[in-house]
Order: sequence, then structure tokens, then C-alpha cells
Amino acid sequence: MAEAAGKVNELLNALIPRIDVPENRLYDAMRYSAMAGGKRLRPFLVMQGAAMFNVAESCALRAAAAVEMIHTYSLIHDDLPAMDNSDLRRGKPTCHKQFDEATAILAGDSLLTQAFGVLADPKTHGDPQVRCDLIATLAHSAGPLGMCGGQQFDLMAEKMKLDIGAITRLQRLKTGELIAWSCEAGAILGKQPPEIRHKLQAYAHDLGLAFQIADDLLDAEGSEEEVGKSVGRDAEAGKATFVSILGLERARSQAAALADQAAKHLEVFGEKGKLLRDVARFVVERRT
Ligand code: IPE
Ligand code: IPE
Ligand code: MG
Ligand code: MG
Ligand code: MG
Repeated sequence: MAEAAGKVNELLNALIPRIDVPENRLYDAMRYSAMAGGKRLRPFLVMQGAAMFNVAESCALRAAAAVEMIHTYSLIHDDLPAMDNSDLRRGKPTCHKQFDEATAILAGDSLLTQAFGVLADPKTHGDPQVRCDLIATLAHSAGPLGMCGGQQFDLMAEKMKLDIGAITRLQRLKTGELIAWSCEAGAILGKQPPEIRHKLQAYAHDLGLAFQIADDLLDAEGSEEEVGKSVGRDAEAGKATFVSILGLERARSQAAALADQAAKHLEVFGEKGKLLRDVARFVVERRT
């Protein structure tokens, strides 16, 4: 993961230059949030998926950078006072605290928009059909049928009583969709048939849920120093999560079971799928 993170950091650094223009505050805010660390899990998933299908690393890296831009935008907006009102992200003040709300909104907008520009560039793949496929699937995963829809549902979850089925759907949209795109991007770049893509989707489905349960557990029992972001916000907001419904113990075992199940979907890939199977365990054992 560290190796993939190093490479994607280098590309993000190049894609978001520091520009000497009057509006350079926007670029500073984009860089501030995009280069603030972060596990780079989604880029890792893209890179590993692509490696399974012998995709050129330079192509995979661009898809990896694109999804990290979308993810970073989602965090900047998620932290805004109108949403979670968080002060700490990736061990630093949140974008709107460091800059201001308007700049944070625009930095998020810019990262979102630029991500699609990165995918549309011929450097991402020589075949325009592949680029369109990447763009269309990412638009689905990040938009109202995916992450944005999940974020809306998540805000409403502060005032609704949700059962486990509803929470599963919420988490699948808010977090799972972008993780699913990350898992599938390598197969898209490698022009893999639908049955291969379905295996990766099945893996991603369980991985995404396990990931979000772990996130909810960190919110409930992690420390800000360790996690690097504001914690305790879900309970404070009265938000329905796996933890609020199942309790800590059952949430933990549910996450572990999902991680095991995720790894099983990749058994067909043998040795090539080993790192992706390992990452399922990382996702639930992580402390940040
Ligand atoms: C946090 O994502 C937000 C969720 C979708 C739960 P990550 O835990 O991947 O955050 P970073 O990128 O490492 O900061
Ligand atoms: C945010 O979920 C998910 C997205 C940004 C799409 P959370 O609100 O749980 O994420 P954290 O805990 O602030 O990182
Ligand atoms: Mg949130
Ligand atoms: Mg939040
Ligand atoms: Mg959270």
C-alpha cells in the first residue's frame, strides 16, 4: 500500500500544480486536502486490480489518482458545517477550517471535475471506449445513485430509525460504490469480460461494507490522535449505523465475517488475487 501511495502521491502532485494566478488559493486548498496523507486505499485497489490483468502501470495510476480526487472532494464536503461539521481530517484542520467554507466548496468541486478530466485524457487509455466506460461507471458510483445519494440518506439517518437492511443500503451507497468502482477499474482498463467484473463486484460489495463498519467502529471507540479525524460524531448526531444497531461486539464480528467473505470471492484468481484478499483483513483490522 505504501508503494502504491508513493506513486499516486507523485501523480497527484503533478496533476494539481501550484499556480501563480490571483485565484491560487483554490489550488492551495486542493493540494492541502489531496496531499494531506490518507491511506490511499482506493488507489491501491485500482492498482492491484489492474496488475491482475496486466494493465500498464501508468494507466492504472491515472485511474487511481482520479478516484482519490473524488474521494478527497467527498471528504472536504463531508466535513463542512452543513454536513458533519468536523474540524480534523487526516491529522490536520479540515479544509474549511484551514481556508474558509467557500474555498472548501470550490476545492471539492474542482477535484470532482478534474477527476473526470483525468480519465478522459488519452494518457489514461488508448481506447476511447474504455475511457468512456471508466467515466460512465465512476459517474454512476459518485453521483445520486451512489455516493451522493448515500450521503443524503446518511444525513437523513440522523432523524430516522433504520433497520439493518436500510443501513446496509445506506453504507453501500455512501462508501461501497466508490470502493466498488476502485475494485472494478482495473478490469475495465484490462477489457475483462462481465463474469470477471462480477467477481470483483462481489468482492467489493463485502469489502465496502466491512470498511464502513470499521469506520463506524473507529468513530465510536477510536481516539482523534490515532484516527486523525474527528471521532464520536455519529453518536453525537444520533446517527443510525451498524454500531448503533448491533453494538460494538456484533459490529466487529460482522465486519470480520464480511472481510472473510470478500476474500473468498477472489479465490478463483489464485496467487494474483493474494494482495486484494489480504487487504480485506487490513480493512477491518486498521486503526486509522
Ligand atoms: C473515510 O475514508 C471516509 C469514508 C468513506 C468512511 P478513508 O478511511 O479511506 O479516509 P482516508 O483517505 O484514509 O483519509
Ligand atoms: C463519509 O462518511 C463518506 C463520504 C465522504 C462519502 P463519514 O462521515 O462516516 O466519514 P468520516 O468518518 O467523516 O471520515
Ligand atoms: Mg458523513
Ligand atoms: Mg464525516
Ligand atoms: Mg465515519
